[in-house]
Amino acid sequence: MEIKFTRAATLKEKPDSSTLVFGKAMTDHMFIVDYDAGQGWHDPRIIPYGPLQIDPAAKVLHYGEEIFEGLKAYRIADGSIQLFRPRDNIDRMNKSADRLCLPRIPEELALAGITELVKTEQDWVPSEEGTSLYIRPFMIGLDAALGVHSSHHVQYIVVVCPVGAYYPEGLDPVKIYVEEKDVRAVKGGMGMAKTGGNYAASLRAGDLAEKAGYSQVLWLDGLHRKYIEEVGSMNVMFKVAGKILTPDLNGSVLDGITRRSCIQLLKDWGYEVEERRISAEELFEAAENGTLEEAWGTGTAAVVSPIGELAMGDKKVTVSNNQIGEITQKLYDELTGIQWGRIADPHGWIMKL
Ligand code: COI
Repeated sequence: MEIKFTRAATLKEKPDSSTLVFGKAMTDHMFIVDYDAGQGWHDPRIIPYGPLQIDPAAKVLHYGEEIFEGLKAYRIADGSIQLFRPRDNIDRMNKSADRLCLPRIPEELALAGITELVKTEQDWVPSEEGTSLYIRPFMIGLDAALGVHSSHHVQYIVVVCPVGAYYPEGLDPVKIYVEEKDVRAVKGGMGMAKTGGNYAASLRAGDLAEKAGYSQVLWLDGLHRKYIEEVGSMNVMFKVAGKILTPDLNGSVLDGITRRSCIQLLKDWGYEVEERRISAEELFEAAENGTLEEAWGTGTAAVVSPIGELAMGDKKVTVSNNQIGEITQKLYDELTGIQWGRIADPHGWIMKL
């Protein structure tokens, strides 16, 4: 399908790469393709970035009929641009689409929307250490009717923005609060889907945690309120007595692409990785008996982010002396090394633009 291009009449001033804040500096153009039941996907286009015109009765505005993805484009030393596992994002988006009764988008069309927009905005891909172009594909249900049904008219849209570190702490350890009151998702709900509703459910606890001086919350499972699941914007991993532990994909945990990549790297290095139920109690016990050696989060936006403090109720433990741990640093270096083309890519994760 040919992508129609309309150039923006004026181009924005690009932000200084050393002061980038996550997700604020949107570029000059965006990609949109429409879907209509009976017609399929049609009219792919790159147009000037700007407000969408949406009917106030559109399903997305009332019933959260929305899914999204997050991936990045990296400027490597020779000046060229590359993507990390973009097909995995599209595959996950189509799984999210199934859950929310949105139409699947053909892989090549979804990918073309990403690659053509990044090529259009190539001058926006920063080159400073630790920066990249964040890519946000999303899909919205647009039927203008207040009945609770899935939409027949849908759009897949891609927007991009240059970013630095997700957390203001950068690679300094973050403080995480274990949330005992609110839950993010339950098995049978939408936890495995990347949909706005899961993040809406997280806002209250996130705000309260932030006011108390924590970066984000660590969610417990919705049924037993006992087993840890994930942090607001990342999956979590722990090194306990030499072994790596991470919550299993039980239906309410996001199947993170950075999570998947870290598990592969850890296995390559000979670590035993246990994907299983982990209770908060087990974690705090390990901290108390000195076997909790490291904790970190993984995510596209967060990359690999060390956790230096965990709190739950009135219990508080420091992890790894509030320093970045050895494995956390090694994972960060290896992953970003592959993403920025500084080291070999043995698993074929990189796609050159
Ligand atoms: C990402 O890591 O790309 C995400 O989607 C997390 C986000 C909610 C900031």
